[in-house]
Amino acid sequence: MDIRITSQAIQEVQGDALIVGATRTTGAQGKKSVLLSPSAAAVDKLLEGLIEERCADGEFRGNLGEILTIHPMGRLPIKRIVVVGLGTQESITPQSIQRASAIAARHLQSTGAHSIVLALQWNSSNYDEDLGTQAQLEGALLGLYTFRHYQHSDNDRKGVAQLTLRTDAEHTADVERAVQKARIMAEATNFARDLVNEPPSVLTPTEMANRARAMAERYHLECEVFDKAKMEELGMGGLLAVTRGSEEPPHFIILRYRGAPESSDKGLALVGKGITFDSGGLSLKTAEGMERMKGDMAGAAAVIGAMQAIGALQPHINVTGLVPTCENMPSGTAFHPGDVLRIMNGKTIEILNTDAEGRLILADALSYAVKEGLSPIIDLATLTGSIVVSLGQVMAGLFCNDEMLTDEIIASGRATGEKYWPMPLDEEYGDLIKSEIADVRQTGGRAGGSIVAAKILEHFVGEARWAHLDIAGMTYRESKKPHQEMGATGFGVRTLAELALRLAH
Ligand code: BES
Ligand code: MN
Ligand code: ZN
Repeated sequence: MDIRITSQAIQEVQGDALIVGATRTTGAQGKKSVLLSPSAAAVDKLLEGLIEERCADGEFRGNLGEILTIHPMGRLPIKRIVVVGLGTQESITPQSIQRASAIAARHLQSTGAHSIVLALQWNSSNYDEDLGTQAQLEGALLGLYTFRHYQHSDNDRKGVAQLTLRTDAEHTADVERAVQKARIMAEATNFARDLVNEPPSVLTPTEMANRARAMAERYHLECEVFDKAKMEELGMGGLLAVTRGSEEPPHFIILRYRGAPESSDKGLALVGKGITFDSGGLSLKTAEGMERMKGDMAGAAAVIGAMQAIGALQPHINVTGLVPTCENMPSGTAFHPGDVLRIMNGKTIEILNTDAEGRLILADALSYAVKEGLSPIIDLATLTGSIVVSLGQVMAGLFCNDEMLTDEIIASGRATGEKYWPMPLDEEYGDLIKSEIADVRQTGGRAGGSIVAAKILEHFVGEARWAHLDIAGMTYRESKKPHQEMGATGFGVRTLAELALRLAH
């Protein structure tokens, strides 16, 4: 994407379309009306009140994401003007600007625009001006994302190739920083979305390792990939068991960013579940919706994407990304219910259901993070259907053994528009996973399924500060939305990158 910044006057900007904003307000007598942003008002003046006239007619009310298209018919150099609703004046936030920008940009892309000028700036005491700048661009870049590599394309569907941010000239350095951050965050998110959207026969564990390696080279991160022999040497019994039914070799990907090389603090670990296809194994899933299990590596994608963003943002902190990746398949060599596995930290797990594979590969990865002395450790995983029952597709479950870390993650999420809800780790839940023959049982039945899964992971984090994010409900959308393409969402990338910035010193 060609991204530009301009401080040209609104009557001079050129391109296929200009996006401006408007909010709705409620007047003294409870009468609802539309309030145009300064740039929208400037356009309106140049068009002799055309926008206000449309609003007075009730064609546009300023609701969040609502769109009004105006054709200046040669009275301005720009071809089209899209007024996008930002919701009520009081509720306007960087998140609402991001959402509105995504909707308007997507709408324009689907109606043939190639170059768009963003002029959604709205001075508000609610937030910093730079956050508004970032939100506009980030929203547009996320909204414009498509995944069409496998579609025969007719040539006129080229999509938007140029985004220009229009701003008042004064604070150029700040504006440039905000634009840079938006680009980094959106590109990393879209990179993670590609990994999730790829078919499972393309995005194998080997291909994931290849893409992580290529990314690491571009962003000057260290990348190390362990093969099966190394896993055997380290005693990664969880990962080795899950991969057994598959023809695809497993990998353990390590990405290192050294932002604080002088520090003795090993730093932050980001751990992502990387099951490239979860058939359930011998405890086979039903056919219905099984195709969605290509996305069972969304935690891994979020970690790899976040490492890209961190490599570009360069915070003063050491960060290590850890991705255990394999397939979960049924076959004559697959692991069985009834097996007892030994995880890297020496603890054993009694297997009851091969479809509860995520906790097994994470157990090894968490053990590895502890052995490396990393803390805090944040893991992301599409771990349980149970969390989707609990929180739906609105929030991810957050399980954490440290209150400060809980707050930091929730705040990082809020800043990036990703929501987390704190879940319990009370001791009583541990009663459900007491085993007669191993140190711990793999599953505890349907009750509190996401919590029990977290309790199992807790066995492998030692003394580290740790958070587990169960993102099963957040990573994939079955249908397209006005602001978002169907498929992968890239959930978690921006939270993790923002968290690294906040933990840096
Ligand atoms: N990958 C699934 C969880 C999942 C469900 C992710 C829905 C995304 C959407 C996980 O490996 C799984 O199968 N979990 C089982 C665990 C059960 C067998 C204890 C589940 O949640 O049903
Ligand atoms: Mn499973
Ligand atoms: Zn799974």
